[in-house]
Amino acid sequence: MIIREFRLPDLKKVLEIEKMSFDDPYPASILKDIYNLGAGFLVAQQHNIIVGYIIFWIRFEDEGHIISIAVDEKNRRKNVGKNLVNTAIQIFKKYDIKNIKLEVRAKNKGAIKFYKSLGFNEEKIVPEYYEDGEDAVLMYKRLKTINND
Ligand SMILES: CC(C)(COP(=O)(O)OP(=O)(O)OC[C@H]1O[C@@H](n2cnc3c(N)ncnc32)[C@H](O)[C@@H]1OP(=O)(O)O)[C@@H](O)C(=O)NCCC(=O)NCCS
Repeated sequence: MIIREFRLPDLKKVLEIEKMSFDDPYPASILKDIYNLGAGFLVAQQHNIIVGYIIFWIRFEDEGHIISIAVDEKNRRKNVGKNLVNTAIQIFKKYDIKNIKLEVRAKNKGAIKFYKSLGFNEEKIVPEYYEDGEDAVLMYKRLKTINND
């Protein structure tokens, strides 16, 4: 498996994964906008097929923000998600980011366990964060500095 930067021809497969993973998937237009605005956007590729992706923002207040991650259903629990997050973390470290935050649906217990397994902590509940009224769990991971690794 390789992790590499997203390219526009990957969009079709990313959308497929998006639709199988979320009840409220991002449409193509939003994914393209996010890409054009310069977000971090990585894909995991296995035997020439895209099996997962991660989107994140690098901020300048020492904080990174994971926007979305999803793995093709057939390829879950094979460390694809973990590799995507860890590659994003390497990029955050290059930018001297100290904290990473993300929001996850409170009912998405599998994803919360996934993030915890990668060292994220539950910070607080954000009530009615999502358009459908569901709460989010705000999670944080503090990064060690490169010298401290
Ligand atoms: C969350 C998601 C990205 C995880 O990707 P993945 O490639 O399956 O995860 P990994 O194989 O890297 O998992 C690493 C560890 O995280 C934990 N984990 C992952 N998925 C889990 C689940 N559903 N339930 C409990 N623990 C889980 C486990 O500890 C796992 O290690 P193990 O398989 O050796 O036990 C994937 O399930 C997914 O695409 N879900 C739908 C979209 C989504 O909910 N995205 C997150 C919200 S933004």
